[in-house]
Amino acid sequence: MTTVPSVTVVGSVNLDIVARASKLPAPGETVTGAELHRFPGGKGANQALAAQRLGADVRLVACVGADAAADEALALLRDGGVDLGSVTVTDKPTGTALIAVAPDGDNQIVVAPGANRCLSAGVAGVPDSDALICQLEVPVDTIAAVAGAYAGFFCVNLAPARQVDVSVLQRADLVVVNETESSWYGAALAACHGLIATTRGPGPATLERDGAVIAKAAPPAVDAIDATGAGDTFTAALTVALVEGCAAGEALDFACAAAALATTRLGAQPALPKREELPPPGE
Ligand code: RIB
Repeated sequence: MTTVPSVTVVGSVNLDIVARASKLPAPGETVTGAELHRFPGGKGANQALAAQRLGADVRLVACVGADAAADEALALLRDGGVDLGSVTVTDKPTGTALIAVAPDGDNQIVVAPGANRCLSAGVAGVPDSDALICQLEVPVDTIAAVAGAYAGFFCVNLAPARQVDVSVLQRADLVVVNETESSWYGAALAACHGLIATTRGPGPATLERDGAVIAKAAPPAVDAIDATGAGDTFTAALTVALVEGCAAGEALDFACAAAALATTRLGAQPALPKREELPPPGE
C-alpha cells in the first residue's frame, strides 16, 4: 500500500491517575512517598494515538462522560489529529485508571470503566477503513458485532483478558496478547487462523499462524521507566506495518522497536513514539 492507511479504533478512553512509587504494593500493603501524575490513557485511545503518530489516518469510536476528565483524556488525541467525530458524550463519568509504576517500569492497573460501558454496537456502527483495531475495555458484545459486520483487516488486542465470543477469534486477521493473556486464553486461541502476536516484555515477541512461528523479534535493549502503553504501541505499530504491506518479520521488528521506545518515557500517551523516531520497517 502506498497511500496512508486508514484505521478505525473502537475502544476505551481513560484518564490515568499515576503514582510513581519506590515499589509496587503487595496485597494489604501501603507504599508512601509516590509522585503523582495525570495522563490521557485507555487502551483504545492509546492505540488510536499510537497509530496516528506512526503515520495512519485514525478515527476513534469511543464513549466519554460530560465532565472535565473527558477534555483532559482527549487532549493529546485532539492535538495529534485523531478524528474524534465518533466519540459520544454519555451521562456516565469518563473512564479512570489508577496506575502504580515501579522504578523498573513495571505497573499495576485498576480501571473504573464508567462511560466505556456505554459503547454499544449501535453507537459504534460499521467502520469502512483499511483496518479496525479493538481491545477488551469496552463491552465484548460490541466488539463481536462490529467485527462481524466489518470487511477489512481486523486486529483484536485481547487485553484485559476476558471471555470473548469465538467469532471474534475466528474473524481476526491479527490477535495480540502478552504472555499472561496467552496463558489465560490457552487452547481457545487455536480458533484464530490469522496471525497471533505474543509479546514477552523485554523478551522476544513472536508471530504465529496455526501453531507455527513465522517470525520472532527481540525488542532493542532500553532503560525502561514505565511500561504503561507499551502493548498498545506494539498493537498499533504491528497493525500499521502489516496494512502498509510489510513482511511479517519486518512488521514485528518495527512493533518491538516502537514498544521498547515507549517504555523509556513516562505515561501512556505522552510516551507514544512518532514515526520519525523509529527506523523504517525492514532497516
Ligand atoms: O494499556 C495501558 C492502559 O490500560 C492505560 O492507559 C490505562 O488507562 C489502562 O486502560
